[in-house]
Amino acid sequence: MRLIFLGLAGAGKGTQALTLSQRLGVAFVSSGDMFRHHLSQGTDLGLLAKSYMDKGELVPDEVTIRMVLDRIGQEDCLKGFILDGFPRTINQAQALDKALGDREVQGVLYIKVSEPELVRRLSSRISCRACGTPYQKELLPQGATRCPRCGGELYQRADDQPEVVRRRLQVQIPEVQGLADYYARQRKLVEINGEQPVERVGEALVKAILR
Ligand code: AP5
Ligand code: MG
Ligand code: ZN
Repeated sequence: MRLIFLGLAGAGKGTQALTLSQRLGVAFVSSGDMFRHHLSQGTDLGLLAKSYMDKGELVPDEVTIRMVLDRIGQEDCLKGFILDGFPRTINQAQALDKALGDREVQGVLYIKVSEPELVRRLSSRISCRACGTPYQKELLPQGATRCPRCGGELYQRADDQPEVVRRRLQVQIPEVQGLADYYARQRKLVEINGEQPVERVGEALVKAILR
């Protein structure tokens, strides 16, 4: 099973892909998490990515494509994967199509959420540094500093500052629309209403995947 979760910043790609990949027994591949992991290790790639991420801009295609294609070439991805945050440009989508050949992606699930709700979610997001799980601050026990899932440290992502959130959405809106059109032409796009409780979005995704 090879799937892409498409959606704007804050749509719930990570939330859903983390749980669904476990349920389906496929690999979870998040380009954003990979960049943040590189940064935590202090690699050159991590530092390069940070200079774009902190401004809400896209990391250049060349390095992004190389990193993700390397990852999906690894053994655990043979049984399938969910891509979160990749592709994010038509260039990336074409590179992915070319790399996969006849092992093509079967479905692109476009999680749609209105802009005011995205801004609200991102302003109250707190994330785990170790496993990447995102939470809403108000749903965690007051004063929580550790991830309920893995015990990792909770922190606020640098790109969740209001002015960076605005820029991310500005950058992502035309890119995501272009990708939605690209995959609609391939008859792979399924739109999911992302503005309902987390469990309901999960059910809608499973229904679309098993269709
Ligand atoms: P990335 O890490 O992918 O960030 P993003 O696309 O901006 O998306 P987010 O992670 O912010 O949102 P999400 O959809 O995962 O939502 P989440 O589940 O957390 O990328 C970061 C940066 O890296 C980019 O800006 C770029 O610089 C670079 N980058 C990455 N990939 C790249 C690429 N391919 N090319 C170039 N550059 C790239 O949910 C959000 C919040 O809402 C959470 O708090 C969650 O708890 C909550 N929530 C989720 N679902 C619901 C719900 N149904 N109801 C209420 N709350 C909900
Ligand atoms: Mg995410
Ligand atoms: Zn964690």
